[in-house]
This record gives sequence, structure tokens and C-alpha cells, in this order.
Amino acid sequence: MSTQRKIRMGMMGGGLNSFIGIVHRIASYIGEEYTLVGGVFDSNFENGQKFAKKLELDLSRTYADIDTFVEKELALPAEERIEVVVVVTPNFLHYPMAKQLIENGFHVICEKPITNTAAEAMELESLTKKHGVSFALTHTYTGYPMVRQMKSMIAEGVLGKIQKVDAQYYQGWINPVIHDKEKRAGVWRLNPEKAGQSCCMGDIGVHAFNMVEYTTGLKTTKVLADLNTLYEDNPLDIDGTAMCQFDNGAKGLVRASQIATSEENNLCIAVYGTKAGIKWEQENPNYLYFMEEGKPVQVLKPGHEYNSELSAISTKIAPGHPEGIFDSMGNIYSGAAKAIRGEEYLEGAFPTVHEGVRGMKFIEAVLASSKNGNVWTEIED
Ligand code: NAI
Repeated sequence: MSTQRKIRMGMMGGGLNSFIGIVHRIASYIGEEYTLVGGVFDSNFENGQKFAKKLELDLSRTYADIDTFVEKELALPAEERIEVVVVVTPNFLHYPMAKQLIENGFHVICEKPITNTAAEAMELESLTKKHGVSFALTHTYTGYPMVRQMKSMIAEGVLGKIQKVDAQYYQGWINPVIHDKEKRAGVWRLNPEKAGQSCCMGDIGVHAFNMVEYTTGLKTTKVLADLNTLYEDNPLDIDGTAMCQFDNGAKGLVRASQIATSEENNLCIAVYGTKAGIKWEQENPNYLYFMEEGKPVQVLKPGHEYNSELSAISTKIAPGHPEGIFDSMGNIYSGAAKAIRGEEYLEGAFPTVHEGVRGMKFIEAVLASSKNGNVWTEIED
């Protein structure tokens, strides 16, 4: 934990009834690195003010919109100004908000999918370089200590040559929604104007894809995808499978569904090499299964000396005390804090803007492959 003063943080979205806002606020608190100062918490200014009041924030730092936020914050002395802004609005606002924030010198922590298009993501990547700000993309699951352990073990070569990767993210929550016209109309994730080009692949398939590239270090070179929209009046995918080819010659799968009835957040990743396999499941995040050829399965857990440095810095309490999604997001915030302060950090400490570019290229390739009759579609590096 740094002994430096806390980083002044703002938020776009994440207000009272938002889903993911609370995860970000708790995560930002866990490492004692940030203090929430203000922002634009809600699309409705009054609701945003009510929320800020509840949090006992200075109401003069809660603004009606991002233009006012930028104007008023830039008018403050640098030592008072908000330094990093967390973007946790629906998808369509990520790109314009992040762009405006970067161009005005704010560091950004942004939700996925980073943008609506790969071109926008690439633009954000070059803007962060131009303006010298840091950008963390909250692929939450990369913060779990045993996911980080998996990444370290694969990098050490304990699996041998990777020959098969299988990542799955199955949810069932959209199943009742999709069958009810009224309910369907109220879900922004099914509205292309707010969700972007994809529902399922943009919302959760991209997490599974990110886990593949994060843990293995492989690059996906091609996909052959089949997406399912289920109903004619629903333009966005709610289920799909992508066969993948990787730059080492291995093959694999990214499977995602929001109509897998009664599934909750069943994200799993398994990687198989010539010497061993390794497997992790989000709903039981403290267990990492290591399967060596001809030997009994080993179950690795957080907080032990056998874990890597990247895993160890992501564990805050003694072994046997379960840590979960708040802690996982907290580890991403701790990594991002180092970047914001200009300190050194370990590779993998937080997902970067480049992982956002990779994610958008994957989504676009999957959409194109499915639309063009399930054909192999290249993903450029
Ligand atoms: P939500 O609909 O529950 O909340 C969105 C919030 O944004 C609300 O507070 C709303 O008032 C606010 N908002 C909308 N327009 C705004 C504007 N113009 N200015 C300021 N605030 C505005 O959405 P949810 O589920 O929290 O998702 C938000 C983002 O987080 C999405 O991009 C989603 O993909 C991502 N997400 C990521 C997860 C992860 O595991 N990393 C999990 C859930 C969501």
C-alpha cells in the first residue's frame, strides 16, 4: 500500500440504482489509494445530486453533464482537481466520454466494452499516448489472485506447448426478458443505440476472450463464429460461439450465452498444454485446478508462498478467508493507481487500453464471421 496521499477520483454514471457502480466504489476503497470527490453520477442531474448527498460529497463537485464537469474541474487549482475519472455508463457513452477526458488530461478507468468500434478503441489508445495519461479497462476477472496465478504459471511454461483453450461465459438472465416484449424494451443491453454492435459478445463474450489472451499471452489470429439473435425483432446477439485460432498454432473456443437458462455468472477458462492443463471457474474463484499428465489433480489457493508475485500482491488477507469480485476489481484499481502515480507495475497488474483494442477487434471479427455465413475471419494484431 502506498503512503502517498489518495488520488482524487470522479465518476461518470454509477449512480444510486446502477448495477456496477458500487463494485467500483468499494474496489477504489480497498487499496486505500483513491478518494471519491464528485462526477456526473446519473443521466438525471437531480438523482445525481441526491446520490452525492447520500455519499456526503461536496455537491459543488457533482455536475449536470460531462461538459460542465470538464470546464469546472479544469478551472480548479491542479492540487484540488479530480485526477482520474471512472466511466461506468452504458456502452455508447464510453468512447465520447473517455475521449473528452483524455484530451483534457484526466486519467481514465473505463468499463468494457471500451467503445462501439475497433477504430474508436485505437483512437483512444493513440490519444492516451499523445496526452500522457493512463487508461485502465475493468475486465474485472483479471484481478482474481488465482487468475493471476494461472497467467504466471502459463508464462513459466508449466503447461508445455499450449494446444487447446476453452473459455465460456454463460448467463441466463436474458431468457425471461427476451420472451416478453415489454421487458425487452426496457433493457439497454438489447438496444443497439445504447449497447453498440453486440449484446452478448460485447457484454460477456469479450470478458471470456480477454481471459484467454490475458492468461495465455497468446494472440487470437482468426475466428469462425455463429451468433444467435433468437427473435426477428431483436437485432443483437444473445448467444454465440467462436472457434478461435491462435498465433502458436493452437485452437480453441470462446462461448458466451445470456439465454443459458438459470446460469448465473458461469465464466470458466481451461487451458491445455503438452504437459498439463489448468482450469479456473469464476463462481469458485479461490480454486485453481492444475492437472499434470499422469498425476492427481492439484488445487492451488490464494495467499500461499507457492503463488507468484503477481498473485501474491493481489491477495490481502490470510489464506482461507474468501476474497471475491470486489477484491478482484480492487486489484485492478491498485494496479491502475501505480500507473496514475507514474510508478512501476507488474505486467498484468491491470488491463490496458490495448486490451480494449483487442476486445473490439474480436467483437467485430465475430460479428463479421457470423454475418458472412460463418467464415474464418482474421483479427489483425
Ligand atoms: P446501469 O444501467 O445499471 O447503470 C448505468 C448508470 O449510468 C446509471 O447510473 C445511469 O443513470 C448512468 N448514466 C446514463 N447516462 C449517463 C450520462 N449521460 N451521464 C452520466 N451518467 C449516466 O448499467 P450497468 O449494468 O452498471 O453497466 C454500466 C457499464 O458497466 C456497461 O458498460 C457494462 O457493460 C459495464 N459492466 C461491467 C461489468 C464487469 O464485470 N466489468 C459488470 C456489469 C456492467
